[in-house]
Amino acid sequence: MIGAPPSAAPTRDCPLCPRLVGFRDGNRDRYAAYHNAPVPAFGAISARMLIVGLAPGLHGANQTGRPFTGDYAGDLLYQTLLRFGFAQGRYAADPRDGLELVDSRLTNAVRCVPPENRPTAAETNTCRRFLSAEIAAMPRLRVIVALGGIAHQSILRALGQRVSGYKFQHGAVFELPDGLTLADSYHCSRYNTNTGRLTPEMFEAVFAAVRAILDRSAAAP
Ligand code: URA
Repeated sequence: MIGAPPSAAPTRDCPLCPRLVGFRDGNRDRYAAYHNAPVPAFGAISARMLIVGLAPGLHGANQTGRPFTGDYAGDLLYQTLLRFGFAQGRYAADPRDGLELVDSRLTNAVRCVPPENRPTAAETNTCRRFLSAEIAAMPRLRVIVALGGIAHQSILRALGQRVSGYKFQHGAVFELPDGLTLADSYHCSRYNTNTGRLTPEMFEAVFAAVRAILDRSAAAP
C-alpha cells in the first residue's frame, strides 16, 4: 500500500456526507470569509510521520484551511512539534505564519467540520477513503500518530487491520505490518487538557517516543 501515487483528495464541494454538506452550506452563509471546505493535509508527502486528528474545528481549521490552525488544540500540538524538531518557524494560528513541518504531515480522520465537533461513525467511515489515500501516498511513512480513539480506529481500518487487536491507550506504541508503527495519544483537545486527562508532559512523551523510533530507524543499516 505504501508508495502508491497520490489519490484524489476530496473536492471543495465534496458531496459524500449529507449532514456535513448541510452544515458546510450553512457555514458558508454564516461565515462567508471562512475556508468552509474539506481541510487538506499539511506537510510534505515525503514525511516519515503522519499525525491524524479528529476533524477541523468550526472556528479553527475550518476557518483557516490548515489542520489544527486556529483551534485550541493546535496551540499544544504545534508547540510540541516545534519542541521536538517536527516543525520550524513560528506558529501564529494563521496559514500565512510561515510555519513549516519537518518530516511530519498532519491530517484528520474526517476532513470537514462536524456539528459539535463530533463526526458520526458513518462520516468517519465515508471519509476513510481519503485517509487511506493519504497513507498510501507517503512513500517514506514510518510512524502514524493517532490523536484519540476515533483516529486510532480509523487508521487501523484504513490499513486493513482488526481494531480488536489494538486497544487504544495513551502512550501505546504498536508495531504494524509493512514496517509501520502506530503511536497513540489522547487528543490534545481543550477538554482533555483542561481536565488534566492530557498534560503537556504526557503529550511530549508521545513525540519523544516517535523521535526515538525515527532516529533508530534512520540509524539502522
Ligand atoms: N483541529 C483539527 O484540525 N483537528 C482536530 O482534531 C482538532 C482541531
